[in-house]
Amino acid sequence: MTTRINPSILAADFANFESELQRIATADLVHVDIMDNHFVPNLTFGLPMVERLQQVSPVPLDVHLMIDDADRWAPGYAEAGAFSVTFHAEAAAEPVALARRLREIGARAGIALKPGTDVEPYLELLPEFDQVLIMTVEPGFGGQSFMNETMPKLRRTADAVERAGLDVWLQVDGGISLDTIGIAAEAGANTFVAGSAVFRGEPAEQIALLREAASR
Ligand code: DX5
Ligand code: ZN
Repeated sequence: MTTRINPSILAADFANFESELQRIATADLVHVDIMDNHFVPNLTFGLPMVERLQQVSPVPLDVHLMIDDADRWAPGYAEAGAFSVTFHAEAAAEPVALARRLREIGARAGIALKPGTDVEPYLELLPEFDQVLIMTVEPGFGGQSFMNETMPKLRRTADAVERAGLDVWLQVDGGISLDTIGIAAEAGANTFVAGSAVFRGEPAEQIALLREAASR
């Protein structure tokens, strides 16, 4: 199984993104959390920041949009060169049309589900997506505790992906640490977002440890 570790720069030093990105050069992708103060009660940064990060990042960008009206805003992030653009199911009017548009532009299309959102209505749409993000905390803030109760949903998604013979990446985001990454891997995740767990210590070392803990 391929394990991907995507550090979230939400936990990085906002005054030094360029050097912070160099510290995670051994990661698979860099996770970029876009928040709009509407879909979630927190505000980060937007498209101009992503355009600039794209120019200086040693690893491709995994953009996580926690914004309303994803249909309108998501394509711009694909046009900026993001490797993957993940929007929330709860914030898109036409998720399939949007995913097709993202793929057409050349990005991988991802759909994210908050802890309380059922995955069942989306399982038949799996072929339209390259990635499903099962949130393991309520979106909005770093440093929260991993919600074990999201694991049955992750497992059902993993089973559906396998049954359909698809290569859809399964991502988890929120509270991922050396203590919890094994639980998510066991339930079928292969792509792990980690903010505080990576940037709290020495990032390269933490990335290696997380990778090892996920593959055990
Ligand atoms: C939360 C964000 C996460 C956040 C994770 O809404 O989507 O990506 O950065 O942070 P940790 O790993 O600290 O829980
Ligand atoms: Zn995120």
